[in-house]
Amino acid sequence: MKLVKPVIAAALTALATTALAHTGVKDPDVKARMDGMSAIADAVKTIGLMAKGETDFDSAAIDAALAEIETRAARIPERFETEVITPKSEARPAIWDEMEAFSEKALALETLAATRQGTVASPDDLGALMGDIGTSCKSCHSEYRE
Ligand code: HEC
Repeated sequence: MKLVKPVIAAALTALATTALAHTGVKDPDVKARMDGMSAIADAVKTIGLMAKGETDFDSAAIDAALAEIETRAARIPERFETEVITPKSEARPAIWDEMEAFSEKALALETLAATRQGTVASPDDLGALMGDIGTSCKSCHSEYRE
């Protein structure tokens, strides 16, 4: 668990700081994609709190969270179809130059969330799951988010 705990803590900290990020966003396209990301983050948080032992282990809730991530990740490419960047948006212009690569990263998250459903049997599995999810988020954010 030694390596895993900081990963979980970092992931949860990153999520907490985004809560205020989209207040006052008026552009409907930007708002929709931020809301989609927030829903993904909420689902990750459900799993993260269990991984930290702050909530009771519940495999049905984990599968529901993974299903939510899968559905939301599947919608990422269409959410970013229109190129629009506003001052509050953290989207990088590279998304629209590299839409195929960007969409592949969305598909990677979708696939990860789909294939892990039904596989999380005990709290011991949560660290690895959180690590893999975090890696997937980061692989896109590091290139396409400010
Ligand atoms: C395919 C690329 C991609 C993947 C995968 C991805 N994100 Fe994002 N995410 C983005 C982009 C781009 C933005 C910036 C959107 C904007 O500000 O317009 C963003 C923004 C966010 C935001 C801020 C939303 C807001 O209200 O401003 C959160 C929270 C977030 N992502 C969480 C996650 C989590 C958690 C994961 C992994 C489970 C994840 N994202 C996976 C591309 C991605």
